[in-house]
Amino acid sequence: MKRAIVVYESKYGNTKRIAEAIVEGMKQAGEIDCRLIVPADAQPDELVHYDAILFGCPNHMQEPSRGVIGFIDRAASVDLRGKVSAAFDTYMGANKGVAVAKLQRKIREKLHGLKLVTEGFSGEVKSRTGPLVEGETARAQQFGLSVGRIILG
Ligand SMILES: Cc1cc2nc3c(=O)[nH]c(=O)nc-3n(C[C@H](O)[C@H](O)[C@H](O)COP(=O)(O)O)c2cc1C
Repeated sequence: MKRAIVVYESKYGNTKRIAEAIVEGMKQAGEIDCRLIVPADAQPDELVHYDAILFGCPNHMQEPSRGVIGFIDRAASVDLRGKVSAAFDTYMGANKGVAVAKLQRKIREKLHGLKLVTEGFSGEVKSRTGPLVEGETARAQQFGLSVGRIILG
């Protein structure tokens, strides 16, 4: 069975809900064992056990939140060749895609061999603490479904 891990950070729970919806979508695609984990609990070395590694975070001051970036830095020495990846963020107002673009750049710079297989997903929240804008979890699920189909080849 294919295995996917989603490393996400979430201060108020909104990015967590997006991560969970992406997992639902991936499972809808077929037999994929999916694990959700926060950077504080994740060990870079364990990434070798997965076929797909996803990263997600809130936009904090136009940047990906620090925990996920720190985890990527720690994972830079792990051999991730042949694995696929995708990234997502949550944001407010006019900042759609800003943090996820930087997150993808970081993945490309640091995690050699890991292949981003899709454009990043960006989910909107109504205010700093949420909630998510209506429809965003459904969109995230669709994103997960398309990533899942790529994982399953
Ligand atoms: C310290 C801080 C800075 C933030 N800066 C931005 C920002 O520059 N642009 C933006 O769109 N959202 C910003 N936000 C709002 C976050 O995107 C929002 O809190 C997040 O999407 C909620 O996700 P979470 O519940 O997973 O933490 C900021 C939030 C915090 C806490």
